[in-house]
Amino acid sequence: MLVKGLLPLLTLVKIAVSLPAAPVPPSEGLRLVKVSEDDEGTWVTEDQKFDLFISKKINFVDVTDTWPKQLEEFGAVTDSSLEARQISFPSGPTHQSQANPLIAVAGKSNPQSWTNTFTSYNNRYYRSTTGVTSATWLYNTIKNIGAANSAITVTQYSHSASGFSQQSVIAKIPGTSSATVVIGAHLDSVGTTTSGRAPGAGDNNSGTVTILEAFRVLANAKFAPANTLEFHWYADEEGGLLGSRAIFNSYASAGRNIKAVLVQDMTGYSPNNVIAVYTDYVSTALTNFIKTLVPVYTSLPVITDVCGYGCSDHASANSAGYPASFVTEDTFDDSSPYIHSASDTVSTLDFDHILEHIKLTIGFAVEASYF
Ligand code: BES
Ligand code: ZN
Repeated sequence: MLVKGLLPLLTLVKIAVSLPAAPVPPSEGLRLVKVSEDDEGTWVTEDQKFDLFISKKINFVDVTDTWPKQLEEFGAVTDSSLEARQISFPSGPTHQSQANPLIAVAGKSNPQSWTNTFTSYNNRYYRSTTGVTSATWLYNTIKNIGAANSAITVTQYSHSASGFSQQSVIAKIPGTSSATVVIGAHLDSVGTTTSGRAPGAGDNNSGTVTILEAFRVLANAKFAPANTLEFHWYADEEGGLLGSRAIFNSYASAGRNIKAVLVQDMTGYSPNNVIAVYTDYVSTALTNFIKTLVPVYTSLPVITDVCGYGCSDHASANSAGYPASFVTEDTFDDSSPYIHSASDTVSTLDFDHILEHIKLTIGFAVEASYF
């Protein structure tokens, strides 16, 4: 079970090991970690970040890259992001006749085969060798799939400026407008130690292959959206949302018009057989729209829950000022109990459930291409 809010405990930890309180100038290699919006942050070494936060499953965000700005609302001060926050969304889906034939060709066999390869790396930890090689395998796989449509570009996004070698992947289906809709999932995994076995079949190979199958279907169909569609696979979510923060903060700095972001993290384990739409650190308007898609594009009921501070990459989009939404497999308490361990294996995955998330993703991509 992940722990949602441990600020008082963290304060004790700080006193016990006398970690310096922020703000102090960062010395070489220290990272600034926040456990809530109000937390001023704690400077820790990479080893302390793993031991005190990651291995204890404490929700946190690594905000070193924006220090001393320290604003979670890094992009919210720009005109374009203020505008983005005010976007309204349709009251429900209107493009079923276009989406349904695409949904009909989505399947489980590619997701199953990608899963077998992706989970066979020892781990996909963002600071490990296999973290880098697994992300490169994913990039090559996505590039080959994108080759079905010459308009598509697939690029690696380097995080060397943030101090790690694992790269994110961005696949772009250009629209007639540069206004962009983002569909994202994190590609990294983490185990009980930094070098330990972490197949990450659920967290988050499942989200990775969910959006990859949706991308494959759209690429093969040469789907031509009005808004530009970007599929993102984020490096280093587990180390404090570093990959997605770098990308969304850079988009905000560049004034990119991002109309909507849908993040999926864990899509393959659902004892209640539901699609869960989480309601914290998201745009309520976009989330309400996503809720209308679930009964139309999937055969499952929709439920809602909350996940807490820094739970996944939607929080990076939200804090950069972009309308974000977050869809996952079940309630927080009933989601996969195997994550962040060697037990997060393929045998725990329900590919029928993953297929429902794929159908929702394709439905969303088609609908949002007209936002
Ligand atoms: N996949 C989890 C988030 C999650 C948990 C989604 C339960 C749905 C149900 C994510 O990869 C994760 O581990 N998040 C961390 C925070 C992160 C910043 C280290 C968490 O929630 O502890
Ligand atoms: Zn995780």
